[in-house]
Amino acid sequence: MVRTYIVTGAASGIGKATAQLLTERGHRVIGVDIRNAEITVDLSSAAGREELVNRVAELSGGSIDAIIANAGLATPTAATVAVNYFGTIATLTGLRGLLAGSDAPRAVATASMASLFPPDDLLLQALTAGDEPAALARGAELEAAGGDAAALIYGTTKRALALWIRRTASTSDWAGAGIPLNAIAPGVVETPMTAAMIETTEARKSVLELVPMPLNGIFQPRDVAYLLAWLTSEENAHLCGQVVFIDGGSDAVIRGDSTW
Ligand SMILES: NC(=O)c1ccc[n+]([C@@H]2O[C@H](COP(=O)([O-])OP(=O)(O)OC[C@H]3O[C@@H](n4cnc5c(N)ncnc54)[C@H](O)[C@@H]3O)[C@@H](O)[C@H]2O)c1
Repeated sequence: MVRTYIVTGAASGIGKATAQLLTERGHRVIGVDIRNAEITVDLSSAAGREELVNRVAELSGGSIDAIIANAGLATPTAATVAVNYFGTIATLTGLRGLLAGSDAPRAVATASMASLFPPDDLLLQALTAGDEPAALARGAELEAAGGDAAALIYGTTKRALALWIRRTASTSDWAGAGIPLNAIAPGVVETPMTAAMIETTEARKSVLELVPMPLNGIFQPRDVAYLLAWLTSEENAHLCGQVVFIDGGSDAVIRGDSTW
């Protein structure tokens, strides 16, 4: 059956590979990005998020089958707070109503294995409280501090996103409405986001010390696309609030016995 998918971050990397895979499989994909997409919006802004919902409603004719909320930034800046957490949640909650007409509605967000790194506690607090002004203010403080402080921004946004997915998936809006809501947590994937980090042999070596991936190492966006496609397919009817690590083993190595 031909399904209609919304893919954010569709202009590059994992989102682009996912849009390509779903299109090859005969589905209708409405790509969303800040550039080079069917819907061009800035998910860091309230206006962009509102426009997203209006444009998807218009282009889809009011009904979609799946949301793949994947757009993200990895810069050590406050903008990363806006896009990765508030932009992703606005995508999911704003488009949820359009899933109502689907026989097999599905939603997934792209978190990260970086959610396992120690967070910035103040930023995490503001994010889990859903307080965007406070989170942006803390993001700006970390950005101004630079270095190790600013480097905490990315993982903290992904930690908060994973927590939101786990807390939200079982509620009446999602599980109660028959919508599996889950997240993926990729390890290091070769995309424009990571290009500079894995450019040289030395750089790759130090990334793999931080993110141990004993199973097949750094991988391709297409490998992530297969998982996103399955999580949003009709075949996935019972995963609820799971954060699926597609990470070559970094979660198993880093968390070991502390989770199961
Ligand atoms: N590449 C990795 O190793 C890796 C690992 C874990 C998680 N992730 C996550 O996977 C997702 C996709 O990343 P990628 O590696 O494909 O990176 P990428 O940079 O290739 O693609 C990200 C896309 O998001 C879009 N985007 C950024 N800000 C936006 C905004 N304000 N509004 C609309 N679109 C915006 C970008 O334009 C870009 O096309 C991100 O959420 C990222 O955090 C990536």
